[in-house]
Amino acid sequence: MPKIVFLPHSHLCPEGAVAEAQAGESILDVALRSGIDIEHACEMSCACTTCHCIVREGFDSLEESSELEDDMLDKAWGLEPESRLSCQATVSDEDLVIEIPKYTVNHAREH
Ligand code: FES
Repeated sequence: MPKIVFLPHSHLCPEGAVAEAQAGESILDVALRSGIDIEHACEMSCACTTCHCIVREGFDSLEESSELEDDMLDKAWGLEPESRLSCQATVSDEDLVIEIPKYTVNHAREH
């Protein structure tokens, strides 16, 4: 079973976390099941960027992002080459290391 390592995030998981994943599950589903409450403002319909994550390891094992996801990602706070929307990126059979960005678009607006 692939594992997902979530790097420490000051608010969502200060110590970081390691979760077991099933192939085909989205990164967001694994995070939520593990008590890591990544925002998902559009309820996983690929219409926001609040579930943005950065795949530090294992990026190439993920299925390619759709055009819609890429369009949304362009609007994400702190976009990087290995950015994905965690509700759209599904786990394959490789382990992943995930960084949750410090801010989402929603938070950036508040500050
Ligand atoms: S929850 Fe909105 S795009 Fe993932």
